Parts: sequence; structure tokens; C-alpha cells
Amino acid sequence: MSKTIIVTGGAGFIGSNFIHTLVAERPDWRIVNLDALTYAGNLENLAAVETHPGYTFVHGDIRRAEDVARAFDAAGQVDYLVHFAAESHVDRSIESGLPFVTSNVVGTQVLLDVSRERGLGKFVHVSTDEVYGSLGETGYFTEDTPLSPNSPYSASKTASDLLVRAAVHTHGFPACITRCSNNYGPWQFPEKLIPLMIANARADKALPIYGDGLYVRDWLYVVDHCEAILRVAEAGEAGEVYNIGGNNEYPNLTIVKTLLQALGKPESLITFVKDRPGHDRRYAIDASKIRAELGWEPRFTFEQALPLTIRWYESQDEWTQRVMSGAYRDYYDRQYGDRV
Ligand code: NAD
Ligand code: TYD
Repeated sequence: MSKTIIVTGGAGFIGSNFIHTLVAERPDWRIVNLDALTYAGNLENLAAVETHPGYTFVHGDIRRAEDVARAFDAAGQVDYLVHFAAESHVDRSIESGLPFVTSNVVGTQVLLDVSRERGLGKFVHVSTDEVYGSLGETGYFTEDTPLSPNSPYSASKTASDLLVRAAVHTHGFPACITRCSNNYGPWQFPEKLIPLMIANARADKALPIYGDGLYVRDWLYVVDHCEAILRVAEAGEAGEVYNIGGNNEYPNLTIVKTLLQALGKPESLITFVKDRPGHDRRYAIDASKIRAELGWEPRFTFEQALPLTIRWYESQDEWTQRVMSGAYRDYYDRQYGDRV
């Protein structure tokens, strides 16, 4: 049956992949994409869905109740709201924490308030494994691991998780929280490890590795993540938290060497640089709850999806060049002018 969904942050990396997943897997759904188009929001990611009959873009900021209300007006009765919109980059949060507090914390509360007032079927809050802090050499994050964020980014995400939890507890608000590991795949802004290293290697530029390069991340192909989120929207139990991960732990140095090998570039491009302050040593997700309760399984291994990702970036030189030069920001004016 046809449903209506609001997606916040749909012009970003995971949000745009999610909208592509929806168009492919739920073609009769109405989709309203609410996005402020920060530096990370790129409507070019969604060029292929612009003519989809059920798709509407609303240019607005989740920090402004009237903007959120416009998205609800455009949607009519809302079955699901999936909340991706956030400042998402740890390094930027170290430079300046305030935008992380306003968008991730205040913005989430505004969204909760308007959603409660207007009513909806299910609210999915997309969070991160970084709220759990850092692991030693062994062990995994479960949904019961105490929250212990270390960066301004993860602290702001933790605050937003707690606001969602409070809305569930206090108001009986129908929300789920998802916490996933590091995503990779098409349309990721080339400030994050994998797309940055692919872009630099292809341009024969230095690959900056923080510290000793032995920091471990648990990589999840974005398509698998999007399918998990759709499963949580449709079948998740309100009030529950679901960890999402693909069991693909690798040290950063291994990732970078694998990329260089696949691209036929020399390891001499690797350059060790000053470490990130407060750098979390290891993340690893135990995703057994979503597997057991919602029947979700990742479809891609790292060995399968990393080559797909590299091939995607190789075929998207123009996209990468436009993102890195900032030219992608003109697209909005050309495409929408004063229409939104
Ligand atoms: P992204 O930075 O690529 O995209 C964020 C999007 O949100 C952009 O389109 C931006 O314009 C929009 N946005 C930011 N502030 C806004 C505001 N105030 N109002 C409306 N729109 C706003 O992020 P991403 O990597 O796609 O991450 C999406 C979500 O998933 C985030 O909540 C992030 O915390 C979470 N997450 C990401 C990863 C990852 O590996 N990328 C891992 C775990 C969790
Ligand atoms: P990143 O993609 O920023 O994701 P997160 O910090 O949210 O995990 O970084 C992934 C890992 O790669 C992290 O350990 C930091 C490291 N890193 C580098 O070594 N060099 C870089 O230039 C970047 C962007 C990240």
C-alpha cells in the first residue's frame, strides 16, 4: 500500500542513497525531502529522481519549526519520518562544535515537537555507533553499551538520541533509533576517509593518514544501511534501538593500501600526518538484534562493495570535481531558481 515518508537530510550522502532505495523498492510512495542544503547537501545526487511522480523537495532547515511544518504540509498524512539531517563530520566538529549543537540537538528537538503536533506513524532517528565511545582491541557495541561519546560530533548525536528517548518515554512518541557504523558508497562527500583517499590517489596527491593508521572502523555499504533503515521504518518497534553493522573491521592503513592497489597507485602516496585530537581507537558493531528481530542481513561484503564504490567514483569524475570545487552549489539555482 502506498505510504508517505518525510526524509530529512535527503540531499546528503546516506539520505540521497535512501531516496534512491525508496524509489526503487517502494515506487508508489510519496517522498518529501526536507534539506537545508548545507555544504554537504547536493541535489545533483538526486537528479535521477527529480521527475519521479511521488518526489517533492522542500528547501528548509530543521532548526526552524515553520520549515518543518512546510514539509508536513507538502506531505499530508505522514506514515514515516526518517531523520538523517545533521552535521556529520568529526574533524569539522573539532574545529567548531556549535553548528553540531544547533543542527543535531536543537534541530532534532524542533523536528520532534512539530512531528508530535502534526502526528505521524513512525519516526526513525538515524544515529551512529560513535555515541558508544571507543573500544579496545576486543568486544563489540551492543544496544546496551553505555553512551560515552568523545567528540563534539558524537556528543551532539548522543544528545539527540536522548531527546528522542525522552519523547518516547514522556509522550509515548513512536520513535526508533538506529546506530550504524561507518558507511561507504556512492555520493559520499570527499572529506570522509574512503572518497577522500580515492580522489587524492586518482589525482596523485598525498593520502593523509592520521596518527599510526591503526585506528579501526567497521565498514557498512550504504545500500545495506538504507535497506536496514527501511526495515526499521516498516517493522521496528517504537522505543527500540537497533545497531546496524556489516562485520567488516579494518585498520585505516589496510583500507588505504587496498584502495591504492585497486587504483594501481604507489604506496609512496601515503603520508602520516598529525593525529586527530581525541581520536577513537576502534568501533565494532554487534548487529545481532536487527538480524534476529527484523530479519535484516547485509547483502554486500567489503570485498564486493569496495570495488563497486571505486568504480562508481571512477565513473563520476565530473561529480567529484564539482563537489571539490564547490560548483555543485550552482545546481540548486539552475534547477530550482525561485521555485522552492
Ligand atoms: P551528510 O553530511 O552527507 O549529509 C547531511 C545532510 O543533512 C545534508 O544534505 C545537509 O544539507 C543536511 N542538513 C544538515 N543540517 C541541516 C539542517 N539544520 N536542516 C536541514 N538539513 C540539514 O551526512 P551523512 O553521512 O549522509 O549522514 C546522515 C546521518 O547518518 C547523520 O545523522 C549522521 O550522523 C548519520 N551517520 C552517518 C554515518 C556515515 O558513515 N556517514 C555513520 C553513522 C551515522
Ligand atoms: P572519517 O571518514 O572521518 O569517519 P569517522 O571519524 O566518523 O570514523 O574517518 C574514518 C577514519 O579515518 C578515522 O579513524 C579517521 C581516519 N582518517 C584519516 O586517517 N585521514 C583522513 O584524512 C580522514 C578524513 C580520516
